[in-house]
Amino acid sequence: MSQNIYDSIPFFESYSKYPRMEKGLAGASEWPLLETMLPPSLVSKTVLDLGCGDGWFSRWALDQGAKAVCAMDVSKNMLSRARALSPPDQYSGITFRQVDMDIEVLSEKLDPEEEAAYDVAFSGLALHYLVNLEAALRQVFRSLSPGGLFVFSVEHPIFTAPQRPGFNKKTGAGAAQGQQDWPLSSYFAEGEREVNWLGAPVRKQHRTISSYLKALRTVGFEVVVVDEWGVSEDDSRKHPDWPNDGGIPRFLLISAMKRVDAADSL
Ligand SMILES: C[S@@+](CC[C@H](N)C(=O)[O-])C[C@H]1O[C@@H](n2cnc3c(N)ncnc32)[C@H](O)[C@@H]1O
Repeated sequence: MSQNIYDSIPFFESYSKYPRMEKGLAGASEWPLLETMLPPSLVSKTVLDLGCGDGWFSRWALDQGAKAVCAMDVSKNMLSRARALSPPDQYSGITFRQVDMDIEVLSEKLDPEEEAAYDVAFSGLALHYLVNLEAALRQVFRSLSPGGLFVFSVEHPIFTAPQRPGFNKKTGAGAAQGQQDWPLSSYFAEGEREVNWLGAPVRKQHRTISSYLKALRTVGFEVVVVDEWGVSEDDSRKHPDWPNDGGIPRFLLISAMKRVDAADSL
């Protein structure tokens, strides 16, 4: 069972001021990189948006010609914002569902028509909240048609690793430019981390990069692209609250494919 912190009103209000909530894909730092990992065309595709937030990716997918989008999130706040931003006269192709991905991704009694029904699955910064990642990945694998692609971003494991995360003032090179250090520790100690974020105790799950890759391969995916996003010099996609970190990876991005010859793993 997930924490569902986005249904806490003060947390949701603070998060609503974040660029990806105010500007959608224009405010999502890692979006330009994620976009290159998606299929070149979404025309007539069926799409899953996992942890859809306010639905900016779902609307974009429909605008690109997707036939239908199933967008799911555990948070009622997020889903009501998503519905308000997606008027039915324009976005009737999006179905929003309240789903805790730690419990289920698709319905328990999977409609045979829903099995292998999606061409593309997407998830922006949601999977690092899941305790049962492998079970969710298995469901995503099952829901994709052969040849289907799963593209996602998560907080970079360098960020989720420390038990007591926080930047330090730099003392050596870069100190004069106001750079700060991110002390890395506990990288191989996977599991829950509780961090103070936007004034709330937020629970996330730390996994190593190799764990993400292993989990994908275990459920049957072929990993296609592994990439990382971090702030580069003069980067307009830097979050305004972030310190000058001297260029460390912020997000991990992965695409994985259900091979055409893949036997369903369930
Ligand atoms: C950082 S926001 C990202 C939203 C959006 N995908 C984006 O890229 O901007 C994380 C989202 O994941 C959702 N989420 C977290 N845990 C979840 C779970 N167990 N099941 C479904 N959604 C979850 C949250 O409610 C929130 O909307």
